[in-house]
Amino acid sequence: VKDKIPFAFITLGLLALLGGAFIGCLLGFQYVSPEFLKDEIPFNRLRPMHVSTVVGWIILTATGGVYYYISKVHHLKIYAPKLAKTHLILFILCMIGIYISYLTGNMGGREYLAYLPLISIPVFLGWVLFGINYFKTLKGKIKGWPVYLWMWGTGIVFMLIHFTEAHLWLLPYFRENFVRDLTVQWKSYGSFVGSWNMLVYGTAIFLMSRITGDDKIGRGKKAFFFFFLGLSNLMMGWAHHTYVVPTQPWVRYLAYAMSMTEWIIIISIIQDFRKSIGKEKKQHNNLAYKFLMATDVWVFINLLLALFISIPAFNMYTHGTLITVAHSMGTTIGINTTILLASVLFIANSISKNTLKKSSKQITFGYWVFNVSFLVFFTCLLIGGIMKGIWQYEADPVPFGQMQQDMSSYMYLFLASGIGILFGLLNIIYPMLHIFLVRLMVPKNSDIEHSDLDG
Ligand code: HEM
Repeated sequence: VKDKIPFAFITLGLLALLGGAFIGCLLGFQYVSPEFLKDEIPFNRLRPMHVSTVVGWIILTATGGVYYYISKVHHLKIYAPKLAKTHLILFILCMIGIYISYLTGNMGGREYLAYLPLISIPVFLGWVLFGINYFKTLKGKIKGWPVYLWMWGTGIVFMLIHFTEAHLWLLPYFRENFVRDLTVQWKSYGSFVGSWNMLVYGTAIFLMSRITGDDKIGRGKKAFFFFFLGLSNLMMGWAHHTYVVPTQPWVRYLAYAMSMTEWIIIISIIQDFRKSIGKEKKQHNNLAYKFLMATDVWVFINLLLALFISIPAFNMYTHGTLITVAHSMGTTIGINTTILLASVLFIANSISKNTLKKSSKQITFGYWVFNVSFLVFFTCLLIGGIMKGIWQYEADPVPFGQMQQDMSSYMYLFLASGIGILFGLLNIIYPMLHIFLVRLMVPKNSDIEHSDLDG
């Protein structure tokens, strides 16, 4: 069973992505028709359910990748497979608990962690087990860690810190002071996202170094510079999450500047990768390569948006509008999701190359449907955000209902493109689910295609 643990994480992650996109579409229906499912599950429960599911996709898939890469690519014996299994079981139980909490409305948590706070205890324990297994497996085994090993390790440690921090509001000292409460809560979310970004960006660098076969990508000066920048970003780049909190302006400016530089460096690393990869290697991992190229474009688009909304004069208009949603979905779909799909494709290619090859046309079709739909989706959010931003500050605004009415055609298009994203994802994920489910079902040691990864 232990060989299958990474595949179980990844399979659950893929299901979470499909489920999350589906719930997103239900939310889209509620945008255009507020009565839709209102009595069964209103927007304020469906929204955190969507967010928890897609965060589940990011975390489960990144975790499955880390377990797979250290055990099958670095050929290290996992320190305690039983801990990894317990980690998996804990996360499955937490997922069930979280859904029950949302469906029954028995919640009580905050914003992105709106479920019953008690469930956070096993989530935290799962991360502790992951951390023990990760560091014990690697300890003394690899000389001079490549940067992605540092990034994964740091991501796990900081996730534990900031996940705890996100629950400090449970203590009266934080809860009873509004400004303190708000600052700590939003600060923790910023760092929390920074922690999973460490896992995901580490995966991107790992993939680039493996696809090109060029170890320098993971060991070069630029990669380590990027790591330290990402780390300081994780520690300080949260300030733009606390924009509404009274604070010294320089704290905001420093934080903004830092998060921008991080993205510029990742663009530069991907560009180096694009230049250094040979035709043959590109073909060998054609699909994973395609997704990393999509990441490149989406990092660039998100960078432009982030630069724009970080200008205080514009931020005043964009704050609390759909532009903020464009920023969060832009990064989680455009950057995190494309990197993780590249990772899943890379693994699928190494365990079942022929099956993947047979589905290559369908996946490529899904890739284009996904990206084109996402571009329309993103644009609709921007237009909706601009319309509301202008309306908020108009001297003589039309009534709110009228403004909503004016926006409605964009919201229909938003919904349609959301369905397009789901359809694109279905085409990408269905063949991969097939590959991973077969892997999960076959008895151990059967002569199914074996990994063709190098050491
Ligand atoms: C495919 C992966 C997806 C990811 C990773 C994702 C991620 C997210 C995140 C992080 C948020 C929170 C936004 C915020 O607080 O600013 C969000 C909200 C939302 N998402 Fe998605 N999403 C996905 C797909 C979809 C799809 C396909 C739709 C379809 C229409 C959708 C519709 C929505 C809506 C309506 C909201 C609520 C925005 C609000 O607060 O008004 N999402 N999503």
